[in-house]
Amino acid sequence: MAGQTLYERLGGAYAIASAVDYLIDRRHSNVTLNNANDKVREFHATQYKAGYKFMVTAWSIEVSGGPACYPGRDMFEVHKDLGLSDDEFDVTAHESRNSLYQVGVPQ
Ligand code: HEM
Repeated sequence: MAGQTLYERLGGAYAIASAVDYLIDRRHSNVTLNNANDKVREFHATQYKAGYKFMVTAWSIEVSGGPACYPGRDMFEVHKDLGLSDDEFDVTAHESRNSLYQVGVPQ
């Protein structure tokens, strides 16, 4: 364990993709995250879910110390005009933690 990157400790790309797969499905059906925000609801209704899962997976691989592979936009730029609340971020954090437990990541 010592000296391993977070990417390695999470189990690499397959495990991260599995967690994101679960997370995005949970987010799309989460009433607080979806219906609370018109822009988020419109994005979910009009964009390919698989593409979004790919973007979040690639970002997670890159920031956890895996290969540089994220082809998306800057995180601040992407989210700054969405009008997101602290509550929406808290719910996302909760769902993210739950998704990691689903694929067996320890505390
Ligand atoms: C842990 C925090 C978060 C991370 C790591 C994250 C990650 C990402 C990534 C990687 C993208 C794709 C960027 C691209 O396509 O170039 C994205 C887009 C997006 N995220 Fe997040 N996100 C987070 C929090 C949130 C929250 C809390 C919401 C709303 C409840 C949200 C809503 C969206 C929406 C609607 C887009 C699409 C925006 C657009 O294409 O115009 N995100 N996010």
